[in-house]
Amino acid sequence: MKPKIHLISFLDNDIQLFNDDCMNVFSNIPNNSISLIVTSPPYCMGKEYENITDDINSFINLNSKVIKESIRVLKNGGSLCWQTGFHVKNSISIPLDIIIYNIVEKINRELEDKDKLILHNRIVWTFGHGLNSEKRFSGRYETILWFTKGNEYSFDLDSIRIPQKYPGKKYSRGKKAGEYSGNPLGKNPSDVWDIPNVKANHVEKTSHPCQFPVAIPQRLIKALTKPGDWVMDPFLGSGTTAVAAVLEKRRFIGSEIKKEYIEICKERIEKAIDGSILVRPDVPVSEPDLKQKVAQKPKEFKW
Ligand SMILES: C[S@@+](CC[C@H](N)C(=O)[O-])C[C@H]1O[C@@H](n2cnc3c(N)ncnc32)[C@H](O)[C@@H]1O
Repeated sequence: MKPKIHLISFLDNDIQLFNDDCMNVFSNIPNNSISLIVTSPPYCMGKEYENITDDINSFINLNSKVIKESIRVLKNGGSLCWQTGFHVKNSISIPLDIIIYNIVEKINRELEDKDKLILHNRIVWTFGHGLNSEKRFSGRYETILWFTKGNEYSFDLDSIRIPQKYPGKKYSRGKKAGEYSGNPLGKNPSDVWDIPNVKANHVEKTSHPCQFPVAIPQRLIKALTKPGDWVMDPFLGSGTTAVAAVLEKRRFIGSEIKKEYIEICKERIEKAIDGSILVRPDVPVSEPDLKQKVAQKPKEFKW
């Protein structure tokens, strides 16, 4: 079956969405053409978009194929960012980023140095809310592995700086005594990102069961690409990476196997283009207002 392609008019029609298996889409992309691939693959543990028989071996097989193709289509100096959490079945947790790292190491053994993936950060994405466990510590983070193809790459730190907690802090001694110690453009966001996850009342929520927030691909796109570069997401879901690419004026190619999700992607991209999309701004999570009743401890609470 020929893949269904949706071209959306933006940057000369350079938003391409395929309602197809990503491996078919990769087979039509030339070598060394994409600047950034950012995705969150299926965790293969029985979600509504997965086969009931999927298991950790399905995860390894799928990601081995997709990462191999990703390296082929990435430009030298391009980035690959893989967002994953844990594969949990029968109370047994497998950290998927370790599996991904091992897959990359295995593929690297077959590659020339200039094409090997080099890991730069294991970003911890932490969020304040989620399911509360009774039998283990409640999970409040997932990770993003950021690799580049080869070790020559650019990183636009100034585009993703965040406000300092104490911007008025000054050097107390030495040659710079009395000067502000922080960068006036803000600080490096570090490798721990506190960004709310997309739950029921989040402004970005669609009917897709597993969205990541726009701020995640948006930070990566700003830091790792330039306007006009090609960004790809092979597992589009609700199209969050595409939305971030449009907001940052990058070209985009993505694939999603389920038709109902492609429809959500199209709608979100159109809203991103006409400026009506609702996105949580990438600002620090606010502290609770202790004057609000919900932030006060009821007297029957024992802690
Ligand atoms: C974890 S979700 C991605 C969610 C996305 N990051 C978002 O914010 O909406 C993974 C998606 O990959 C899709 N998918 C699974 N296998 C695929 C394949 N072989 N090719 C393309 N898409 C696939 C699933 O239908 C699912 O929507």
